Amino acid sequence: MPEIALLQDAVDIVRPLLGQGKVANYIPALAEVNPNKLAIAVTSIDGTTIGAGDYLEPFSIQSISKVFSLTMALNLYQEDEIWSRVGKEPSGHSFNSLVQVELERGKPRNPFINAGALVIADLLQARLSAPKHRMLDKVREISGNSSLCYDKVVAHSEYQASARNAAIAYLMKSFGNFNGDVNTVLKSYFHYCSMRMNCADLSRSMFYLANRGKTLAGKQLITPVQTRQLNALLATSGLYDGAGEFAYRVGMPGKSGVGGGIIAVIPGDMSICVWSPELDNNGNSLAGTAMLEHVCQQLGRSIF
Ligand code: DON
Repeated sequence: MPEIALLQDAVDIVRPLLGQGKVANYIPALAEVNPNKLAIAVTSIDGTTIGAGDYLEPFSIQSISKVFSLTMALNLYQEDEIWSRVGKEPSGHSFNSLVQVELERGKPRNPFINAGALVIADLLQARLSAPKHRMLDKVREISGNSSLCYDKVVAHSEYQASARNAAIAYLMKSFGNFNGDVNTVLKSYFHYCSMRMNCADLSRSMFYLANRGKTLAGKQLITPVQTRQLNALLATSGLYDGAGEFAYRVGMPGKSGVGGGIIAVIPGDMSICVWSPELDNNGNSLAGTAMLEHVCQQLGRSIF
């Protein structure tokens, strides 16, 4: 189990990296975030959470929400209903690329690139009467924080700048792999992405990935086998076309978001969340990755 001093070291060691990445600016509301934030929180398998830096400050979780969406879909659908529409392979393209969707006839490579997450959002929309409410309730429940909220300004800002995601959804619709109304599903998807959580909330909510599918409150959210499968997908696709570099440097299943957050898991041991808004060329937090690298090296831990 890590000590607070180790987490504080991780924050201090990466501070010189500030200024080397770029805050996401294609979502106008995200461009205004203070780029100098650094945060880390760890929830150990005994349920205790510790943190350092700005770990109690909420940020936009963005693509980290794709873990929650897939988890909800696993609760609502048979496996083949999901995997007939979305693949399980790394994409090797940027997270919002259209090229592969065209070449592979509307079936996204995995559930974490935008195309895949939009198909999952389409699945949720089809089976839930109020998907935005259900998602919020679910994340409040598994994080143990009942005051979590969507950031309507960020969701609206992304809807105003949605040309690329709309193009991806319409392209999939043209191949018969998107059933709902594109604008309605986009609005739900942008809300999921806009959720504001801090590193402590996120490390606590991802505890089930470290704990064979059981949440902090002891609820079996998904089965142990599904948890292993979800972690496998996170290890191969959670960091997009930076997944290989992340596996090499950090060696844990993980999921990043363009808000600068990354969650990572050592199954059976701990769930971690880091946050620093500046991103590398693959859209993953630059200093966040370095904090995770420091912690896993110091602990001598990796899944490999
Ligand atoms: O759809 C988008 O582009 C954003 N709402 C989420 C993208 C994202 O977080 C990619 N992660 N690194």
